[in-house]
Amino acid sequence: MKNIVLTGFMGTGKTEVGRELTTILGWKLIDVDDEIVKSKKMSINEIFSRLGEPAFRDMETEMIRKVSQKRNVIISTGGGAVLRQENRELLKTRGVVVCLTALPETILKRTSGNRERPLLQVEDPVQRIHDLLEARRPFYEKADIMIDTEGKSPFHIAGEILERMGWKR
Ligand code: S3P
Repeated sequence: MKNIVLTGFMGTGKTEVGRELTTILGWKLIDVDDEIVKSKKMSINEIFSRLGEPAFRDMETEMIRKVSQKRNVIISTGGGAVLRQENRELLKTRGVVVCLTALPETILKRTSGNRERPLLQVEDPVQRIHDLLEARRPFYEKADIMIDTEGKSPFHIAGEILERMGWKR
């Protein structure tokens, strides 16, 4: 049995799909961002504004190193977690890496009401989403399984992941 690692851009539904998978499998969901917030006692926004993105990325790697040691868990990662090779390697050692994808318009809709995403707190979030998606595409595509989430419910997506892993007929 391997961990299921959920990757993908902000707003692709990693947390919601992770919750569905925990219900189906009875496994624990570990959200890397939540773990960082708990251990540092600071919100993601605070970490970015007070310490900067590079400091956040180091915390992210430290947390990924810790959580990727576990077994039979679902790990939900932040949208930038796959950028570092070290993170990708850690996540793959005990996990099947699944990447969720969505169209930029859908991502914008899902993230627009949320102020807890410092990278999208810019004048033109649409352009930012396009730029980041383009720059990150090669890293997202390194996943074992790519799942298009357009028009699908988290429950349906969770089922599709298990099917693609061969865990469900
Ligand atoms: C980030 C995504 C966020 C969070 C941080 C940076 C990114 O996580 O880790 O704001 O670089 O895409 P979500 O993908 O869960 O929003």
